[in-house]
Amino acid sequence: MQANPALLQKILLSPKDLSTTLSWEAVFGRKAPLCVEVGFGNGEFLTWWSGKEPDKDFVGIEMPRECIVKACAELEVFERGNVRLVQGDARYLLRELFPYASIEKVLMQFPLPWPKDKHAKHRVIGSRWAATLADVLVPGGGFELITDQGWYAEEAAAAFSNHGGFQVSAPMLTNDRPFMTRYEKKWEKEGRETWKVEAILIQPFSADRFFLTSPVTHHHLPALPSNQLMKSLKGARFQGQGNVVEVKEVFGAESGWLLKMVASDESFSQIYFVRIANRSDGRALLKLEEGSRPFWTRAVRFGLDELEKRLS
Ligand SMILES: C[S@@+](CC[C@H](N)C(=O)[O-])C[C@H]1O[C@@H](n2cnc3c(N)ncnc32)[C@H](O)[C@@H]1O
Repeated sequence: MQANPALLQKILLSPKDLSTTLSWEAVFGRKAPLCVEVGFGNGEFLTWWSGKEPDKDFVGIEMPRECIVKACAELEVFERGNVRLVQGDARYLLRELFPYASIEKVLMQFPLPWPKDKHAKHRVIGSRWAATLADVLVPGGGFELITDQGWYAEEAAAAFSNHGGFQVSAPMLTNDRPFMTRYEKKWEKEGRETWKVEAILIQPFSADRFFLTSPVTHHHLPALPSNQLMKSLKGARFQGQGNVVEVKEVFGAESGWLLKMVASDESFSQIYFVRIANRSDGRALLKLEEGSRPFWTRAVRFGLDELEKRLS
């Protein structure tokens, strides 16, 4: 499936749009209550929800590109102007991209439960999720979870109760759903139960963030590094506090070099490129390659600082 490129460019926000002190009012061009759907799948519910409440603004967070493309097609059919999409892991992006006390409602429907213990680290729900919601929700705002896994609903309710800042409803079976996605209709036919958990924020708490509000700027090197020095960088691994940066590949490029990097803040990993370019005054410039711009995080800044040390 192909997305309309103009629509995709308008709806899908990139790190370039989001890497400074973020104002959702500026993104939408108005001040309106903000709602977020985490893991929107192919966007059917988000399209329905944003149409039902046109006076609110909506942000969808999903991981696979195919979901973004399918959702764009849905949104195009209904011409929604009050929706933006962000691609990536909501466990981090919800905390990093939304200011304190900025969201009225966060909804997550049928998340992947990751039932095996060894995969539990992939579950969205947990103590960190509750801490994130205690920061980004407005007081009185809420999180709603819809799931077909009773044990997951129990685990979610426990995580919010343990946090202490929320009024939490016990998991309840629900069958009066206002709109069902294709998945949900199929599961209903199979006789699966649907559980709902609601957590309303009573006592906000602020959370620590690792996205930077100031840009990761370029560095100057005394000269273009030698072939030998550059080739020795392949596979280099820089270990910081809570972050790791690796040089995956080193490519020769016109008047310089291109490095393929992976920077991880906790388990939030980004792949991007760094360019080293010859300057007319004999020095060289070390900078993030614009076309692959990552979110400005502590790890991304640390990686550039470490490269400067090795190459100067
Ligand atoms: C079973 S599908 C449900 C899709 C949709 N909510 C529905 O009800 O039709 C679960 C979705 O959650 C998304 N997801 C899982 N973990 C996520 C995360 N950490 N951040 C954002 N999306 C996530 C997956 O990519 C997948 O599309």
